Amino acid sequence: MELIPFKLKYISDVISWVKSEEEMVQWAGSAFIWPLSQRQFRNHQKKAKEECPSLYPFALVKDDKIIGYCEISDYRQQFNSAMLSRVIIAPRYRGKGYGGLLVKKAVKQAFSTLNLNRIALGVFDFNKSAMNCYKKAGFEHEGTLRESAKAGKSYWNCHLMSILRKEWKC
Ligand SMILES: CC(C)(COP(=O)(O)OP(=O)(O)OC[C@H]1O[C@@H](n2cnc3c(N)ncnc32)[C@H](O)[C@@H]1OP(=O)(O)O)[C@@H](O)C(=O)NCCC(=O)NCCS
Repeated sequence: MELIPFKLKYISDVISWVKSEEEMVQWAGSAFIWPLSQRQFRNHQKKAKEECPSLYPFALVKDDKIIGYCEISDYRQQFNSAMLSRVIIAPRYRGKGYGGLLVKKAVKQAFSTLNLNRIALGVFDFNKSAMNCYKKAGFEHEGTLRESAKAGKSYWNCHLMSILRKEWKC
């Protein structure tokens, strides 16, 4: 099991894992507009190709096949900070520990290669399995943005979490 830089050839796999607008918002917040298309995803990836990238996308690969995706996004060199975003495991691989593994590997990669001091994330309050993965990797709850997102007719509360380099147990 390896965390490698994301390749554009994996785009259709990732898109196929997201089956509704609610699932898309749960996964990616407001980054995309439903229906999720390859074009939107490819455009999003352009931030990874800029001279000073703010985005570092990763694929979790098992037997040469992508089974997970995540990003280190919003990289701010000035503050040594970034976000962990758009974490997802292919539906048939969920509940087997891969989400936890992906998060730990992404945090290690981010702290060891980008000289980060802080990694933050947002997770909706009902997403218990995601929160569990983040807590197990050392993320702490910082606060809650109440009803900060809307999916269908429902407003969702978003928990902010973060981990600092001094708290990270590599
Ligand atoms: C969130 C996600 C990445 C988790 O991946 P996963 O491979 O299923 O997660 P894991 O199997 O590593 O771990 C899930 C943990 O949550 C726990 N869990 C699952 N459902 C739970 C619940 N309702 N309440 C509490 N804990 C729960 C599991 O027991 C497990 O903990 P453990 O390792 O201590 O047993 C995956 O479900 C996913 O891709 N979801 C859709 C996209 C998404 O929501 N991404 C997160 C955006 S912030």
